[in-house]
Amino acid sequence: MRIALIGFMGAGKTALGRKLAQKYGLDFIDTDAEIVRDTGRSLDELFKESEKKFREKELEKLAEVSRRDNAVLSTGGGTMQTDGSLKYLKDWTVVYLSLPIDTAYNRSVGVKTFMRQYDGFKELCEQRAPLFERICDFEIYTGDEEEDSFERLCRLTEIEIRKKRG
Ligand code: S3P
Repeated sequence: MRIALIGFMGAGKTALGRKLAQKYGLDFIDTDAEIVRDTGRSLDELFKESEKKFREKELEKLAEVSRRDNAVLSTGGGTMQTDGSLKYLKDWTVVYLSLPIDTAYNRSVGVKTFMRQYDGFKELCEQRAPLFERICDFEIYTGDEEEDSFERLCRLTEIEIRKKRG
């Protein structure tokens, strides 16, 4: 079982992904956290230094972790915008965690200090939403209470588990 979560910042990729992995006995992989661990630097620092270099590291990390199995993978909000990223998720069930842009912004503001102002954030989300919609296998709404979003994600995961069992 391989489940990859994609979506905007604030969609719950990390929080819901970690809970999902725990519930179904899967590994939890968070590409951002692994990059921070490998480099010993914060996302803020990496971003300030060079977004381009960060994107290269992100793609390398995706290539590395995509070979793993029995895992829930939380991608960074910008990962799928990098050319060549999609091929690494071909053996994964790709779930787009979707929510209104304003909700994503309100959840992220103050947490991600490198984050752009509202207009920039909105523009980025508007660019990414059609991409996420196109590449996902499933879309789950996560703009409401965490327990409700988690329940929807669990229901989908159970269907996928049943399908895999045949
Ligand atoms: C980014 C989202 C972040 C992180 C990086 C860039 C983006 O991940 O990868 O700061 O471009 O949207 P989350 O979506 O997990 O916050």
